[in-house]
Formats: sequence, C-alpha cells, structure tokens
Amino acid sequence: MTPDQFAIISSLAHKEAGLVFPVSKSALVSSRLVKRLRETSIVNFDDYCQFVSSSDGKNELRLMISALTTNISSFFRENHHFEFLKTDVFPDLARRAKAGNRIRIWSAGCSVGMEAYSIGMTLLEILPQASSLDVKILASDIDPKVLIVGKNGTYDERQLSAIPQELRKKYFDNPSSTELGKFQAHPDLLSLTTFRELNLLEKWPISGNFDIIFCRNTVIYFDDKTQNKLWPRFQNALAPEGWLFVGHSERVPETSNTDFENRGMTIYRRSPRPTT
Ligand SMILES: C[S@@+](CC[C@H](N)C(=O)[O-])C[C@H]1O[C@@H](n2cnc3c(N)ncnc32)[C@H](O)[C@@H]1O
Repeated sequence: MTPDQFAIISSLAHKEAGLVFPVSKSALVSSRLVKRLRETSIVNFDDYCQFVSSSDGKNELRLMISALTTNISSFFRENHHFEFLKTDVFPDLARRAKAGNRIRIWSAGCSVGMEAYSIGMTLLEILPQASSLDVKILASDIDPKVLIVGKNGTYDERQLSAIPQELRKKYFDNPSSTELGKFQAHPDLLSLTTFRELNLLEKWPISGNFDIIFCRNTVIYFDDKTQNKLWPRFQNALAPEGWLFVGHSERVPETSNTDFENRGMTIYRRSPRPTT
C-alpha cells in the first residue's frame, strides 16, 4: 500500500468510524484489507480506494470499517469492574428492578458480546429473575460481523475459560446444536441482551436513560477530539447517578465539561442533580 493509498483509507476510517491509524500502522491496515480486495475481486489498492470513496462503494465501506476494527475482548476483562457492580451497584439496582422500575444497561463497543454477557451473569447472580423484570442490556457495535457472534452467544472452550468455573457451569453448559466444541449462553442471558449495530459517531437511536454504560477499550482507537465529543453524550444518555465504566487506559478528562465524579479506577458516576 502506497502512502497516498494509506492516506485515503485512513482518512475514510477516521471520518466514518473515528478510527485513527498512524502511518506506522500502514502494514497492519494493508494486511487487514487484503481479504477485502480478494472478496471484491478488485486487483489493486488504487481501484479499491476509488471504489470505497464512491457512492457505489457504500456497502464495501461498511465492510472495510469492519475489517479495520480491533475486536479483542474476553469474559470478565478488567474484573474489578464486575466486582464493583456486585458490591456497589447491583444490590440497589436489583431492589429497584424488583419494585417494578425500568433498568437499562449499555455495552457500547461490545465486540462479540463477552462484556455484555459478563454483566448479565453478574446481574443474574444477584437477581436471578432479571429476565422476567423490566431489565435489559443493550450491546452495540459498529461491526456487523461481531454482532452475529454476540447474538448467537456461542463460544469455544478457550474463550469460556476466563469465566469462573461455577458461572461457566451455570450459564454456558449448553453444547451448541450447530457448532461442534462450542457452548451457547443460557436462555436467561440471551433474553436479557439485545444486540444492535450502532456507530458511536452518529446519532444514537435510543430512548430513555441508561443506569449503567460500559464503553471500554473502544474510544482508545479515537483521537482526543472525537473522545471529547463523546463524554457529554454518554453523560446525557445516563440517568442521574448513572454509572460509566471505561477501559484501563481511558479516562474522562477533568476538562470534559461533564458532571461525572470519579468513583474508582476507570469508574465514573453522574451527579444526582444533573447540570444539563
Ligand atoms: C477492542 S473492542 C472492545 C470490546 C469490549 N468493550 C472490551 O473491552 O472487551 C472495541 C470495539 O469497538 C468497536 N468500535 C470501533 N469503532 C466504533 C464506532 N465508531 N462505533 C461503535 N463501535 C466501534 C469495534 O468494532 C470493536 O468491536
């Protein structure tokens, strides 16, 4: 891939999805797109750049973004967040859910669903009847490919090994009927969770406020300007005293113009009396 071709691809990835690729990632970008060239039968990067820049190439642009995203995830990644949910967040939420209140949780940049299902398992341990109450977990991502895996809720032994044994037995003991060596999530977990394609840079078609938002290891791929536009949007999508969890190398800066209070490592809480 030439520097000019890289400039076209990286500027499209930035404009469409907020993704930032420094020149040092040129080889990575090129290797991630080789398969797209093969699948579109386009023989060189010049023609590919022209195609994804054209109005006819809109669908391919979506597939290009999908190929360029980093989808690494694991169950109970950054486990201190799930411990915090267990001790500081879910007991109160469970009381409110049992009293008939609406509880909404969002895993934004959910990848293949391991984050959303880890939240779900943690919740079901405290509120086993959650799936029959007004409790929902929204799992969203820009990449349609990972959403298919998430919706299916089917994972192999290696992926499931990060789940504590007891929970694994309880929630992933059901061998997949279609994929050998894989196990599917328990129906309660599946029915708690809804997967939806959503680009964080665009309008969020969501109604009502969330009690908890997880957006972890996603904005790290964006530049400061894009990140800074997102913090107030997350704030406004949360209910008063709602919680925001970010990834280990992400921070809501002091200058973010939000009412978030830092309540633990990479954990933020919206003020009880929102200013906006
Ligand atoms: C590294 S994964 C993080 C998965 C999970 N949150 C975790 O921490 O394990 C980052 C995810 O963000 C998604 N993503 C990247 N840009 C996005 C955008 N503009 N809108 C929504 N999702 C995006 C990617 O497709 C990818 O699945």
